[in-house]
Amino acid sequence: MKKNILVIPGDGIGPEVTTWGKAVLEKIGSIYGHTFSFDEGLMGHVAIEATGTSLPDDTLAKAKASDAILFGAVGHIKYDNDPSAKVRPEQGLLKIRKELGLYANLRPIMLFDELLNASSLKPEILKGTDILFFRELTGDVYFGEKTRGDGFSSDLMIYHKYEVERIAKKAYEAAMVRGKKLCSVDKANVLETSRLWREVIQDVAKQYPEVETEHMFIDNAAMQLVKNPKKFDVVVTANLFGDILTDEASQIAGSMGMLASASIGDGTGFFEPIHGSAHDIAGQDKANPLASILSVALMYEIAFGLKEEAKRITDAVDKTLKAGYRTGDIADSNTDKAKILGTTAMGQKVLEYI
Ligand code: NAD
Ligand code: IPM
Ligand code: MN
Repeated sequence: MKKNILVIPGDGIGPEVTTWGKAVLEKIGSIYGHTFSFDEGLMGHVAIEATGTSLPDDTLAKAKASDAILFGAVGHIKYDNDPSAKVRPEQGLLKIRKELGLYANLRPIMLFDELLNASSLKPEILKGTDILFFRELTGDVYFGEKTRGDGFSSDLMIYHKYEVERIAKKAYEAAMVRGKKLCSVDKANVLETSRLWREVIQDVAKQYPEVETEHMFIDNAAMQLVKNPKKFDVVVTANLFGDILTDEASQIAGSMGMLASASIGDGTGFFEPIHGSAHDIAGQDKANPLASILSVALMYEIAFGLKEEAKRITDAVDKTLKAGYRTGDIADSNTDKAKILGTTAMGQKVLEYI
């Protein structure tokens, strides 16, 4: 197999972690006889500095022409603290998701047993958890009209039937090959968009009678997720709810640095950790590269349909953790201090275990 990969490192820890995602992609390629031609694109704060816009046309064109995209993170503290900034790093990410039609963001909560004690939750509550989130990614309050008036502002929360239908179908298809359980999360007791959401899910559910469908309000779901995460199999939810719920769910896996994701839909697949640019640890060789590395496993599996290659990556991560190696975010009181590694050493360990 020969593929064109666009790497978009972005800001903060983005470049630090994509370095290792890319290295793993190549290493697996060299073992299984796959070759890649790499290109790089600017997005986020680095793109604003260089071109004045967070998603230059050149990056978008390269993205559309590539077979898969490996993305790091965007964001800069300067904008976080300046609500009045009109040009913002995150706009580039939202635009590329929309332009590529990446309406389904798959966020697996993959729990490595070795990290049961890294979580702030009790190991017996966590053990056996395996959740696949389907976060709708190109609709909702993220993309509705934004207004700033004199003393007020608004963001329009809007969903069309077709947008709910297509993410629902993807989630049900996944449920069919997993535990045949689907939980749809909304706020249908208050929001009109959620009432449309629930209606559409109820309709799509009829095509999948084997799947047990549950509807849950977002506030309850946020609580159930930490009370009894094992009860969930596939979760499907709207853009904003999915954003928040999956950061919460990262604590099941031990850290934000563990959660990978795949954004798919109409065009080129986009593979990205769920975390951000992490200003607090950027440039210090502290970032956990495993979310980026596990995003490459998703790339092999979803973009290229190569399950064995994907498994080789998750196995290598598992072996690295079993051998006791940790980055700071997943270390616990039992971790041998000598095995707490920086980004670079952790990335190298995974390569060794591959
Ligand atoms: P964040 O995800 O960057 O960081 C949250 C916390 O998790 C921080 O304490 C950070 O140190 C930790 N963390 C995140 N990734 C880690 C890793 N790989 N290893 C170890 N620890 C890790 O969220 P935030 O602080 O709310 O946002 C920072 C910036 O990132 C903001 O500008 C925000 O807009 C942006 N952001 C971008 C994305 C993205 O590009 N997909 C996602 C979320 C946030
Ligand atoms: C994510 C991020 C983005 C989102 C931001 C940076 C636009 O939090 O990828 O989860 O909200 O989708
Ligand atoms: Mn997020």
